Amino acid sequence: MKMKVLVFFVATILVAWQCHAYDMFPLRMNTGYGARTPEVRCASWRLAVEAHNIFGFETIPEECVEATKEYIHGEQYRSDSKTVNQQAYFYARDLEVHPKDTFVFSIDGTVLSNIPYYQKHGYGVEKFNSTLYDEWVNKGNAPALPETLKNYNKLVSLGFKIIFLSGRTLDKQAVTEANLKKAGYHTWEKLILKSVFFFLYTIFSSQLILNVAPNLPGRNSL
Ligand SMILES: *[C@@H]1O[C@H](CO)[C@@H](O)[C@H](O)[C@H]1NC(C)=O
Repeated sequence: MKMKVLVFFVATILVAWQCHAYDMFPLRMNTGYGARTPEVRCASWRLAVEAHNIFGFETIPEECVEATKEYIHGEQYRSDSKTVNQQAYFYARDLEVHPKDTFVFSIDGTVLSNIPYYQKHGYGVEKFNSTLYDEWVNKGNAPALPETLKNYNKLVSLGFKIIFLSGRTLDKQAVTEANLKKAGYHTWEKLILKSVFFFLYTIFSSQLILNVAPNLPGRNSL
């Protein structure tokens, strides 16, 4: 009996020794906000952007450049892209496909990656410059987002028609068609681009249809 009590006592001390304040009071939030690291703050910032609780921002916070860079070039961005594309595919797979059934993709940041542009411009810490961005688009070298390309190929195999709907303006039709083919998108029903007038109207109403891509600042969606 004596022995049992002793063991319990020692065990209690050991458990108490290992408890930090937040382990002992698991429902109490850590109130040390000043102590959040940039990594943690930037992960929160990104989540808020994805959930559209933060929107209309012009640049990413300066302290988040490194975190954004790591997000993009680490495993997370690719994984996020895979998850959203998979969900779109799972939805499509369970449908009975009719000849006119169509999948609509936006282009920049969804089927074509604009990471090479942002890589050269501070991952969004620089204010978006449409002149420079257009120059980059006009080179026609944007690579595919690999997970979207996979999903695209599967959807085409399932018999879906593809429409590309983009915030790119009509003057970019030829370069966009060439870029899509170069990146591996060989077939589509329609490529819908904006007239300049329409562009002014819709610039603030993006993501109407299917935006299978994580968000970056700038012109990343429709
Ligand atoms: C965009 O970049 C060009 C070339 O560097 C520069 O001349 C122009 O002033 C910039 N525009 C804005 C709005 O910053």
